[in-house]
Amino acid sequence: IGLLMKEMKNIAPEERAAYGKGVNELKEWALEFLGSLDEKMKAKELQDRYEAEKIDISLPAETVAEGNLHPITLVKNQIIDIFAGMGFEIFEGTEIETDYYNFTALNTPDYHPARDMQDTFFLENGNVLRTQTSAIQIRTMEKTGAPVKMFGIGATYRKEMDATHAPMFGQIEGLYVNKNITMSDLIGDIRAFLKRFFEMDDVELRIRPSYFPFTDPSIEVDLKWKNGRWLEIMGAGMVHPNVLRNCGINPDEYQGFAFGFGWDRL
Ligand code: DAH
Repeated sequence: IGLLMKEMKNIAPEERAAYGKGVNELKEWALEFLGSLDEKMKAKELQDRYEAEKIDISLPAETVAEGNLHPITLVKNQIIDIFAGMGFEIFEGTEIETDYYNFTALNTPDYHPARDMQDTFFLENGNVLRTQTSAIQIRTMEKTGAPVKMFGIGATYRKEMDATHAPMFGQIEGLYVNKNITMSDLIGDIRAFLKRFFEMDDVELRIRPSYFPFTDPSIEVDLKWKNGRWLEIMGAGMVHPNVLRNCGINPDEYQGFAFGFGWDRL
């Protein structure tokens, strides 16, 4: 623009005014254009400095530990796997039961002294919190008839509380009804289960005669564990003919075994 100004002297006098005006307009435009460029560059410079000097004051978050399954739940799942693998079908039943399924159908009518064996929680309407998963075998047999191979699993309740008893505990109930079922089938399956559960080549068992209204004969099974001590682990027996009859199964044609135990103890 300076050079263009200097050229003024070589311009014809009659064109000088127009030339001067043109150069002035150019100068104004240039000042404005370059001025705004300058502003933009300053803003960019500041922005770059902000970016370069930025301090990251955040810390990586601590990783949150994932939850684990409770040992009792792990044992329950393990038991389900083993019985399912042995061909028993799983049923859960209901925690609130009628008196009929919890007692009467299990050959325990309301005058029966064996009702005293279980400290029952009664609801106001006469139903009970099931005291045993044995109720599930009745519900299942009623539906399926024979043959049937099932196990029931779930919470059971009794009005007792000490170091080895909780008012709510978990029970497993196994049942196999078919033709020619004997006590040795029962003991064989119990042994097979315990061997798998404890991952042992064999387990030492003690079979004691016992009494349950819904089995005949009835047994209790003890397991040899720490320091040669015996631990009572389950009740079992051959399903009482009355129980089969209550579920519409002919006891002259079919026999069955049943067992029940608390998984908390295992
Ligand atoms: N219901 C029994 C209890 O809670 C356990 C039991 C015993 C279940 C013998 C059975 C059985 O199926 O045959 O003490």
